[in-house]
Amino acid sequence: MSSEVHFITKNFDKYDPMSIDAYLAIGGFSALKKAVQMDGEDIAAVISAAKIKGRGGAAYDMGRKWSQARAVKGDHKLTICNADEGEPCTFKDREIIRRDPFNLIEGMIIGAYTVQAQDGYIYLREEYRHLRARLKNAIRQAEEKGFLGDNILGIPNFNFHIHLYSGAGAYVCGEGTALIRSIEGKAGRPRMKPPFIKVSGAFALPTCVNNVESFAIVPHLLCDRENVYMSHGSGESIGTKLVSVGGNVRRPGVYEIPFGTTVREIIYGLAQGIPDGHALRLIQFGGASGKITDDRILDVPYTYDDLKAAGVTVGSGAILVIDERTSVLDFLRMTQAFFSHESCGQCTPCREGNAHQKILLEKLARGEATPEDIALMKKIGEIMERASLCGLGETAQAALLSAMQVFPDTFAVGGAC
Ligand SMILES: Cc1cc2nc3c(=O)[nH]c(=O)nc-3n(C[C@H](O)[C@H](O)[C@H](O)COP(=O)(O)O)c2cc1C
Ligand code: SF4
Repeated sequence: MSSEVHFITKNFDKYDPMSIDAYLAIGGFSALKKAVQMDGEDIAAVISAAKIKGRGGAAYDMGRKWSQARAVKGDHKLTICNADEGEPCTFKDREIIRRDPFNLIEGMIIGAYTVQAQDGYIYLREEYRHLRARLKNAIRQAEEKGFLGDNILGIPNFNFHIHLYSGAGAYVCGEGTALIRSIEGKAGRPRMKPPFIKVSGAFALPTCVNNVESFAIVPHLLCDRENVYMSHGSGESIGTKLVSVGGNVRRPGVYEIPFGTTVREIIYGLAQGIPDGHALRLIQFGGASGKITDDRILDVPYTYDDLKAAGVTVGSGAILVIDERTSVLDFLRMTQAFFSHESCGQCTPCREGNAHQKILLEKLARGEATPEDIALMKKIGEIMERASLCGLGETAQAALLSAMQVFPDTFAVGGAC
């Protein structure tokens, strides 16, 4: 039986999330006070040393991102906290906002200090509208105490203002360029890169986008005198990670695990396994855009490298467990329905590819698919992966393509498991 750790979640339930005084009483904002004694480049170096990869799904080196964003010249620069959290089965950011909003604000201020930004946006998914008041309150109280606004902590020209923005519920708006267009008041559709966001992001200003969990780690890391974070995990996966476990498990929820915990310990230990004695059918990692596998993954340690070697990825940190009551084909049809609905329709591989995959999956479900249909399904999936304009189209077929390898019987024409 594995146990959780509490590093990123250390403050959960330790203070009243509506009260900055309560946050200050548990040491809140001491990381910011420490950060402003440091050079921004040194803060980025601390993050690099901890090998933190962005927690929004793409796993980009966060220290490098902050260092690159800092190097971009500009009188007016922005940071964005991506709180869109639209990836199915992903709900860890919600818990951070709900239970530790001041820590997120503190992480954003440290980020702004590091990359030298004057304005920050929190892009909150519409479905989290119930958390708006909590964030607004945290921003207002931080302003009143002088942690946000002009000359923060009395430091001349350290000015940073946070603006709260709500999306309208589109999954694609979690993608950086679509999110930015949405903040600008335009239709939330991705654009080609370059120009890269760090050079020309929202309102054509240099912009640094990070996930909620990415920001939330920073204050804890800067105050980690005993190197607790570094004592967990190994190799490229140091520290801890929030995972959202959902689907057919007894105890779905958000768990902070040390990297290296096995998948079995997460599913059968923390989430207490599958109810009513049902057998495991499949597990999807990283949300609907993630790959699927079967029980051969159970003894694999949850690290970036081990999961990759086993054919899946960390992605958003979601772990979706599906038991024998759902067939692989039905699961793929549901996933396909999601992407067919969420594709913005802007580029041909994704728009047409999703529409055709849906038709082919329905044909397979009716028992009418031919070997040519299966080959076409694979070909379309691979084209989408390579030729789509954004990450949505590139990963929409990850579940299907991985299923073709792991569950070949599903595609044996005329039969579905
Ligand atoms: C279709 C799509 C949806 C995404 N949704 C989210 C999201 O909801 N939250 C998030 O943090 N990142 C999301 N991302 C990843 C972001 O584009 C970006 O990589 C991330 O916000 C950067 O922060 P990080 O480096 O801290 O992970 C999404 C990407 C794609 C392609
Ligand atoms: S890949 Fe899909 S979501 Fe992305 S731009 Fe193309 S059509 Fe839109």
